[in-house]
Amino acid sequence: MKKILITGAAGFIGSHVARLFVNKYPDYEIYNLDKLTYAGNLENLKDIDKAPNYQFILGDIVNSDFVMNLFKEHKFDGVIHLAAESHVDRSIENPMEFIMTNIVGTVNLLNAAKTIWEGDYEDKRFYHVSTDEVYGSLGNEGFFYEDTPYDPHSPYSASKASSDHLVRAYNDTYGLPVIISNCSNNYGPNQFPEKLIPLFINNIRHNKPLPVYGKGENVRDWLYVIDHAAAIDVIYHKGATGETFNIGGHNEWTNIDLIKVVCKVMDKKLGHEPGTSEKLITFVTDRAGHDLRYAIDSSKLQNELGWKPSLQFEEGIDLTIDWYLNNEEWLNNVTSGNYQKYYDEMYGNR
Ligand code: NAD
Ligand code: DAU
Repeated sequence: MKKILITGAAGFIGSHVARLFVNKYPDYEIYNLDKLTYAGNLENLKDIDKAPNYQFILGDIVNSDFVMNLFKEHKFDGVIHLAAESHVDRSIENPMEFIMTNIVGTVNLLNAAKTIWEGDYEDKRFYHVSTDEVYGSLGNEGFFYEDTPYDPHSPYSASKASSDHLVRAYNDTYGLPVIISNCSNNYGPNQFPEKLIPLFINNIRHNKPLPVYGKGENVRDWLYVIDHAAAIDVIYHKGATGETFNIGGHNEWTNIDLIKVVCKVMDKKLGHEPGTSEKLITFVTDRAGHDLRYAIDSSKLQNELGWKPSLQFEEGIDLTIDWYLNNEEWLNNVTSGNYQKYYDEMYGNR
């Protein structure tokens, strides 16, 4: 029996990781620690909520006493750490939330793991889920490799870079058995509609403008979220302690080209005249410090651990748009704030 703590599993990627682990490993006990910020939504986990090997814990990783007591009580064997403030634009408005959760919260988890595992690191693992944004911005050519020097530009990416350094420092200094992955942009079901793809799907639904930052020439490397979850599974179980793995889709798009694909598919699915959604595209002031291009080389993960993306982008975007169109209630609850009542309905009387 393995006891694994997944932090941030009420969020976008975490919910897919939790679902995969709960269903694939019935012998594991999976604990989801989440503060339920605006980005945490227990509706994402409705289908596994009552599984015998799953438990939700409401809590804040910034509270060091709470985190230490939780580890002492449950004696987790492994941690998969996804909890974070994750949106670049919010980090520009309010950096301190990012410093607290992404840096202080990570150190609280590292300290608690170090305390309960002290002297017995056998079969223990602290997996830190990070981002390609720590490497900074590429020009028109080249890729991010695992040894690309860090060069973060936003408060979000700087906070993630700090947390990566601290995770490695706990390995170097205390021998804590850590592993890190840095992934490119994810898309798919359950993403909060502040991020590009779900925001634009939702705006097209409501005939609202599609705000493209700058000229839309920035490039991102898009990976379907379920492929990211599968990579996390492989790395958690097979990656060597102390290693870093880059995860990416080799699927680069300029924002404007990507948005045109979303518009085209939406027109088709909604039965609109071709070109209808594109008329909503509105060029707006660029994001401050906007990184030009991200592109991941994931050959280490592919060659050493045998992972590769399962979907072509056309298939992934089709599935994604279908999911949002078939889950209008989810979108409406998220945009109206109603999803935040779900905790009271589910757990209020317990
Ligand atoms: P998300 O914003 O959808 O979810 C974050 C979750 O963390 C939410 O459930 C939130 O309630 C929880 N959380 C926030 N602060 C907390 C706190 N103080 N204590 C406990 N829980 C807290 O994020 P996401 O997009 O699913 O990203 C998950 C992780 O993956 C993050 O670490 C992010 O940096 C990383 N990542 C994301 C992407 C991407 O494209 N979304 C790509 C690479 C890496
Ligand atoms: O690369 C991994 C990162 O990808 C993750 O670490 C972050 O958590 C995740 O949010 C994402 O960061 P980005 O900033 O790349 O994602 P976002 O969806 O916010 O923006 C994607 C691109 O689209 C980016 O170049 C900015 C642009 N954009 C975004 C929004 C929300 C627009 O042009 N208009 C918009 O309204």
